[in-house]
Amino acid sequence: MDKLRIKGGHRLEGQVRISGAKNSALPAMAASLLTPDEVVLENIPLVNDIFTTRRLVRELGVAVEFEPDHSARLKAEKILSHEAPYDLVKTMRASVLVLGPLLARTGYARVSLPGGCAIGARPINLHIKGFEKLGATVRTEHGYVEAAAARLRGSEILFDKITVTGTENVMMAAALADGRSVLQNAACEPEVVDLAEMLNKMGAKVEGAGTPTITIEGVRELKGTTHRIIPDRIEAGTFLATGAITNGELELIDCNPSHLSSVTEKLRETGVNIEITGLGRMKVRGSEDLRAADVVTKEYPGFATDMQAQYMALMTQAAGTSVITEDIFENRFMHASELMRMGANIRIDGARAIVTGKTRLSGATVIASDLRASASLVVAALVADGITVVDRVYHLDRGYEKIEEKLRSLGAQIERLK
Ligand code: EPZ
Repeated sequence: MDKLRIKGGHRLEGQVRISGAKNSALPAMAASLLTPDEVVLENIPLVNDIFTTRRLVRELGVAVEFEPDHSARLKAEKILSHEAPYDLVKTMRASVLVLGPLLARTGYARVSLPGGCAIGARPINLHIKGFEKLGATVRTEHGYVEAAAARLRGSEILFDKITVTGTENVMMAAALADGRSVLQNAACEPEVVDLAEMLNKMGAKVEGAGTPTITIEGVRELKGTTHRIIPDRIEAGTFLATGAITNGELELIDCNPSHLSSVTEKLRETGVNIEITGLGRMKVRGSEDLRAADVVTKEYPGFATDMQAQYMALMTQAAGTSVITEDIFENRFMHASELMRMGANIRIDGARAIVTGKTRLSGATVIASDLRASASLVVAALVADGITVVDRVYHLDRGYEKIEEKLRSLGAQIERLK
């Protein structure tokens, strides 16, 4: 298992290019199942979740070729299999995103139930309820969910809870249903909007993406298209945190500042200087006098739960007490115990983490538990005294492209230990 070895205490300076959004590329690759034509996706991040999805869609019959310029050509001329097997789904629950497209394209799908992961139970009951409302018969047995429908028909679908992939899954199925669907209490994340834009370029009729009410007029078939994936707002937020915590000065390029306004505003509240420096560019300047600020994670446009761990690392260096409330997932504080081993002063009280700073962190051997927890440990290691070794960085590799190369180019003392 690879490890990252980081020697803290170096200001980060320079320019970093933000990769395409993993959580937009995943549904976009699944959407290629909706048409027999070729789909070209640009600005694909080369991260492990993308390679897992490539394996999965290839098993379903999609011809996939990745080009060296971060683009991918996908062509689902014929669907050869309708099943997403457990060995793939267990490594990446987002595999569930092939359910809607398979059901819409062929009338049948069999996908392993994703099971929980470190941050929570991660049920898909709302995805299933949406498919049933579209007229599918859905059975769950032997750890698989089977969905079948001779023809999907449009319907009113109200999501009990806001679910990002649930909204995406049902939107893709509704695109080929007979008649109109109206999704209420839909997720408003930029990745949902990006998928809707791609579907509309394929001939779908999706309106209202980015708002809680999405209207979809089903069409008979969808065509191929070329679509550029939006920048990764969580990678951007993570690099803002590295610039802030090392009192550095970074410029992010190829990002979309409007997708992380809540993070930017919160960081400014703590004394971090952030400015938009041009199209797709933003600059962060850290501060020696960071101030504590409370935060509650919320669905978009609120403060992203995927930035909670990185923010917690930063708040260990802020004077005062920050109360961080995780309002989305039931168990997303695993990074706190590892940060405490580095010297952080954190108390967990249910869904709240109370961080008291400023505390000096000291390098330690720490273990990553999930994708964003591992990012949090890297952020902390950049400012800790001495050497930190982050173990199980396969978590990090799921969602960050060449993170040690990007950090090294900014002045971090970081190396990967095979
Ligand atoms: C997406 O996961 C992201 N993944 C997650 O990013 C992100 O943390 C999450 O949205 C919240 O923003 C992808 O887009 C691939 P949800 P998703 O369905 O869609 C409950 C990362 O770091 N729920 O919005 O699985 C669920 O338990 C990952 O890249 C149900 O109860 O999250 C959770 O409490 C981690 N029933 C809440 O809703 C359902 O059927 C939000 O989950 C579905 C969800």
